[in-house]
Amino acid sequence: MAHNKVRVKVPASTANLGPGFDTLGMALDVYAWIEMGIAEETRIELFGEQMKGIRADKSNLVYEVAQMVFAKAGVSHPELYIGMYSDIPLTRGMGSSASAIVGGLAAANALIGSPFSRDELFQMATALEKHPDNVGASLFGGLVVAFWDGERAEHIRIEPSERLEVLVAIPEFQLSTEKARGVLPRQLSMKDAVFNVGHSSVLVAALCTGNLEMIPRAMKDALHQPYRAALIPGMDTILREATQHGALGAALSGAGPTLLALVDRESPEKAGLERFLLETLGKENIGARTMWLQPDRGGVQVLTGFDESSTLFENIKGEVRA
Ligand code: HSE
Repeated sequence: MAHNKVRVKVPASTANLGPGFDTLGMALDVYAWIEMGIAEETRIELFGEQMKGIRADKSNLVYEVAQMVFAKAGVSHPELYIGMYSDIPLTRGMGSSASAIVGGLAAANALIGSPFSRDELFQMATALEKHPDNVGASLFGGLVVAFWDGERAEHIRIEPSERLEVLVAIPEFQLSTEKARGVLPRQLSMKDAVFNVGHSSVLVAALCTGNLEMIPRAMKDALHQPYRAALIPGMDTILREATQHGALGAALSGAGPTLLALVDRESPEKAGLERFLLETLGKENIGARTMWLQPDRGGVQVLTGFDESSTLFENIKGEVRA
């Protein structure tokens, strides 16, 4: 059924989880909301702090993504109302651009009666973002293991263990994915490739079977984190020592600069771990804020039955973190 106006709620995501470079993603319970409707003249309304600097004209990413969906479906809706609110920090490695892509695709698809399946949306999202880890997690929720061969993306979703909680330390500075990919080597040794295949495979098996005890040994990487460490002072120490402070494992979240620790929710060391992350970054004069997060399990949701006469922000006020 086509709609006049739709709203979607889309989760943030973390990519890589250490060794699963461009392959492993997890959805997190920080969200962006997008409202989309067919209009007489395009109007883009941005609510909240995180939207600063986002374009409010037809070069807006959500607008562009929506037009791609309409073109593929053979329909024309050049004028749109788009409202956006996001709690997902921008350019910090928490999948804000993937959430905009997935949210835009899901909203546009719902607006025209959902001609595309989730798998088709995943193909479109991956072709736009190029890495399936963030978009897969935002779309399907939970843990997503995926690859993209340049034409098709494949994925398997894993239900995260009930015991798994996530602590992120979000530095004050921004780091573009382009810059964080620019420091990676063009070639790698067979030894490092084998190291990552082994660690990533065991990490996925540990996550599938809920074997959290294996995570501290498996969550190690030789492909990207060693090269990115220079961009995030304190990161080396955090990755090396977080398990001594109660983390199951620590990793750079996506392309950074956010650092992430997987934690057993029953751990008695949570406060100490949080202090360790902030103090280690503080010693490098890096201001950061921490957030305790849960895996999001549902992925992008098309919201139904909302009050169309209220603004997006009025409607979600009770749910946002601001
Ligand atoms: N897997 C990507 C990277 C995440 O680490 O560069 C950004 O899409």
